[in-house]
Amino acid sequence: MDEAQPGGAAPDIRVLPDLAALTLAGAAFVHDAAERAIVRHGRCSLVLAGGATPRRLYERLAADDSSRLPWNLIDVWFGDERCVVPDHEASNYGMARSAMLAALPVPPDNVHRIPGELGAERAAEAYDARLRDVFGPLTPGRETFDLVLLGVGTEGHTASLFPAHRALDVTDRWAAPVDPAPATAKPLVPRVTLTLPAICGAQHVLVLAAGPEKRDIVTAVRAGDDTLPAARARGRERTTWLVDIAASAEPER
Ligand code: 6PG
Repeated sequence: MDEAQPGGAAPDIRVLPDLAALTLAGAAFVHDAAERAIVRHGRCSLVLAGGATPRRLYERLAADDSSRLPWNLIDVWFGDERCVVPDHEASNYGMARSAMLAALPVPPDNVHRIPGELGAERAAEAYDARLRDVFGPLTPGRETFDLVLLGVGTEGHTASLFPAHRALDVTDRWAAPVDPAPATAKPLVPRVTLTLPAICGAQHVLVLAAGPEKRDIVTAVRAGDDTLPAARARGRERTTWLVDIAASAEPER
């Protein structure tokens, strides 16, 4: 394993011609990270994101030959959740279930959803307790997940870590409430998010950004911004941004 970089691995920004190519590349990264993790320690912990771009990736994974990934060895976690019931159209778990989980042989016990219906405070406590049971306490600099998938908001949020929100400063818990959510949150409902150290303890952080409305954020990250939540979400070994041409100010490479 590579030595962890202080502050995490610098982002490797890869530009894909369109959303379909981005989605295919994302699926290849998931396969690669899962295979590496299973070789390394027998299982893989995969964190899912909400949002339309991640949804395309889940549909791709579900459409792939399911035998290509040993889903019985993969634990599915969530980077954030909206405080709604799981079958609500705004539920990130509900989206992942309909886009991917229902179609794949993932044992129900491997899926660790955030119980958003409890309200932000109680749901964050319950999710934090579940993570502590499985991984132990969130000590500074510790390793956490194998792969964290993230989307990006136009103002630079990721998971439900919004710019200047106090959840960004939580360093001693795996999960934090976001209540009230900032005005830019869509839908504007309270949320629960993984904290920055929980995300940055991951071996690999994979960020998906598509569409012209993400261009300013991609430009800022490319310029070395280290203030936006999305720019601060860095993996220990790898931080990869998959962006489509529309989100990139630079040509394909
Ligand atoms: C959420 C998300 C959020 C999302 C981005 C990107 O629950 O709102 O987890 O961080 O991933 O906002 O979403 P789009 O791909 O839809 O732009």
